[in-house]
Amino acid sequence: MASKWHPDTNPDGMVNLGTAENHLMLNDIADFINSKGLHLEGKDFDYGEGPWGSVRLRKGMAKFINRHFHPFSPVDADELTFANGCTSLFNMLRMTIADPEDGLLLSMPGYIAFPTDFSLLAKMKPVFVPFHGADQFSLDAVTHYEEAYRKAEESGTRIRALMLCNPHNPLGKCYPKETLIALMKFCQQRKVHLLADEVYAMSVYEVPEPSATPFISVLSFDYSRYINRDYLHFIYGMAKDFACGGLRMGALWTKNKELARAVATINQFRWPGQVDERVAAKILEDEEWLDSFLTKSRERLAASNKLARQLMDYAGIGYASGANAGLFFWIDLSPWLNEDDGKDDWEREERLVKRMLENKVFLTNGKGQASERPGFFRPVFSREERMLREGFRRLVNTLEEN
Ligand SMILES: Cc1ncc(COP(=O)(O)O)c(C=O)c1O
Repeated sequence: MASKWHPDTNPDGMVNLGTAENHLMLNDIADFINSKGLHLEGKDFDYGEGPWGSVRLRKGMAKFINRHFHPFSPVDADELTFANGCTSLFNMLRMTIADPEDGLLLSMPGYIAFPTDFSLLAKMKPVFVPFHGADQFSLDAVTHYEEAYRKAEESGTRIRALMLCNPHNPLGKCYPKETLIALMKFCQQRKVHLLADEVYAMSVYEVPEPSATPFISVLSFDYSRYINRDYLHFIYGMAKDFACGGLRMGALWTKNKELARAVATINQFRWPGQVDERVAAKILEDEEWLDSFLTKSRERLAASNKLARQLMDYAGIGYASGANAGLFFWIDLSPWLNEDDGKDDWEREERLVKRMLENKVFLTNGKGQASERPGFFRPVFSREERMLREGFRRLVNTLEEN
């Protein structure tokens, strides 16, 4: 994505509606750090306190989680391990909770990078869970996890973990408490680790749909009634809610001391730099500023989502209902798959992607995100208004040409 679109300096550049970055808040975070001044000292350039994050950073994150995720029992700084991004944590989780070729249950659709995060270096097997039209946020979902589990085990793949992304990427929806509990019970029964990625937890915004489910964290109720605490692991990072993807800051919370020790050992290869830790701690410690930052972020996401929905409505493009979280939504471009473009709809979807790129607009398509049906895309709407309008204008032009 070298030639980025800019209305004045690069109007012919690529409009990126694909990467899940919160552009609406990037300047706010930069202004905050600039206004605070970092005042780095010599000791900030030594090796630091070890491959789990400084006490200061872990205390800052524990305080943040306790304030914003409403945990049933307070999170302790000692239960957190920091790595350079959630991505690194996923990779290390594979190396600690599973053997190569063990299976990981992943919802369809799902976050594009989960399969590679767990399988590229670490060789865990993604086992995709289709829902066949059932609502994957409802209790019905559990039957489908059961089915995928059974089939995998019968074919010789041992399932070791279930990845729960809440709020969900790419659907932008939250799981109700009863489904979280049912999935915990499923994991408990099968001795499967539940990995709860809540990286979009603070990016829940107001929508006109009263049926949208509010966010509730796995930590916010007495989960130990449903799942052994050694089997629940919570992952959170600063890439999304804090608009700090480039800071590479991810935290693992687990009560499983053996697992935490194992991750910290491998983390020698992946721990964040000290200066980055200082920046992250600075952000986490200013509660008053953070409260207003998060409020502003939710307001801007709501406004941008509203505009994106209006643009879709105007163009007659359908989208999944009930989305109220994350930086994206799930749209249905299947009516625009062109019969002449390939032997099946997956090929036609690929062709549509190419046409979009020719028109200099980038969106992630459903195939890479394990969509069950072809023709679905995930536009990111956390963009400045002119960029959003330009991106959708190019998208609509592409569809009209098709
Ligand atoms: C659900 C989810 N988890 C994790 C990540 C990546 O986190 P990090 O940048 O901390 O590696 C993303 C990025 O898009 C994501 O969507």
